[in-house]
Amino acid sequence: MNSCELRIYAAMQRGLFLYMPTEHELQRVSVADVRNVTGYQDFVDEAALDLIYVADHRSMSLVPAARRETYAYTAAGAVAQNVYLYCASEGLSTVLRAWFDHPALAVALGLGHDEQLLLTQTVGLPKQPAVA
Ligand SMILES: Cc1cc2nc3c(=O)[nH]c(=O)nc-3n(C[C@H](O)[C@H](O)[C@H](O)COP(=O)(O)O)c2cc1C
Repeated sequence: MNSCELRIYAAMQRGLFLYMPTEHELQRVSVADVRNVTGYQDFVDEAALDLIYVADHRSMSLVPAARRETYAYTAAGAVAQNVYLYCASEGLSTVLRAWFDHPALAVALGLGHDEQLLLTQTVGLPKQPAVA
């Protein structure tokens, strides 16, 4: 059905951006650094990038209501796996996460009622091993 319901936000130190797939560009949403709201774990605060996957239910009118959430999570999982593959190829670290403050992140992103937070995914440099 090509519903294209997935919205991908990029939280970085320099602000919050929305990925525009047609233009293959990042559109700035806010100058705020919202990385610390993308998860409870410490590393999210300082990571180079925290991706945020959101389902826009307005794009899924052709999908039976009972299946919309499943489809959206499946799409997010597929995208996240591609991020894993890219990170593996570039020597970056990444971790997919579901443990975050959903209401706080929804406020930080300015989401409406039809927009559902799905997952977040941190991308960063691998931790350097301690020197013996
Ligand atoms: C849907 C989903 C949600 C997850 N949520 C979290 C999370 O909130 N925090 C976390 O540390 N790991 C979470 N994980 C696990 C990590 O993504 C990852 O699989 C785990 O940390 C092991 O990573 P490693 O094999 O790179 O060590 C989640 C995994 C999945 C599939």
